[in-house]
Amino acid sequence: MKENFILTLENLSFSYPDKSDVLKEVCFRISSSEHVGLVGPNGSGKTTLFLLLCGILTPQSGRITAMGKRVAAGRFNPNIAYLFQSPEDQLFSTTLFDDVTFGPLNMALPQEEVELRAARSLEQVGCSSLSERAPHHLSGGEKRLAAFATVLSMMPDIILLDEPTSNLDSLNRRNVINIIRQMKQTLMICSHDLEFLLETCQRVILIDRGRIIREGPIVELLSDERLMKSHNLEKPHSLTPHNRLSHDHR
Ligand SMILES: Nc1ncnc2c1ncn2[C@@H]1O[C@H](COP(=O)(O)OP(=O)(O)OP(=O)(O)O)[C@@H](O)[C@H]1O
Ligand SMILES: [Mg+2]
Repeated sequence: MKENFILTLENLSFSYPDKSDVLKEVCFRISSSEHVGLVGPNGSGKTTLFLLLCGILTPQSGRITAMGKRVAAGRFNPNIAYLFQSPEDQLFSTTLFDDVTFGPLNMALPQEEVELRAARSLEQVGCSSLSERAPHHLSGGEKRLAAFATVLSMMPDIILLDEPTSNLDSLNRRNVINIIRQMKQTLMICSHDLEFLLETCQRVILIDRGRIIREGPIVELLSDERLMKSHNLEKPHSLTPHNRLSHDHR
């Protein structure tokens, strides 16, 4: 029986004009509705991979197929949404309301539906009261939540989240976890917040120096202390039985 893959990467390689071999022969397949984490040290190619997946960058070689169609660079694809690592790259309008309605308006949805989606996504992330504010005057955490709302308002089939918990306080981080856990769409999430990935993903892919090192069930892979250490990562504390005394400095 043919498995239902919604996203397929075949031998994807990419270099920037002044940085070669940023991604080398990357291959993986994601099933529909899967939530997959992407981990790796700083500079390993995670953001670059997401920029290729959503069509912002063009690979030198290889193929990306999403929902049965080849991803074409430079074309607006409402089925794949990307939460930028820097919210400043996502928020460019005069008001937050304009930013949140930008995606749905480009999808040529009726005005009523556009406004409904905007109100709902702002409420989901707890930013309804910021709707008329200038995005560039928001705090770091508010910007992160506002950018997330612009992604949610598009209701895409595939969502790529780049460090979605950075700058968030504990309560907002928990709210983002709850939102993601309820999402039925296909998600790829890259994050250095491994405890967050443990709560939101079933599977994880480890990348280093542009190559896929390993992929597998998230608890199994992140528990491998030697593997983690050899790629500048640390086994999450929640996977180690806690010794209360190690926190006690008296
Ligand atoms: N526009 C660019 N031009 C040239 N080199 C770049 C550019 N963007 C990123 N790079 C380089 O490509 C490599 C991969 O960067 P990338 O941003 O994909 O890493 P990352 O895994 O997302 O890292 P982080 O965890 O720090 O966000 C790095 O060596 C980086 O310096
Ligand atoms: Mg990055």
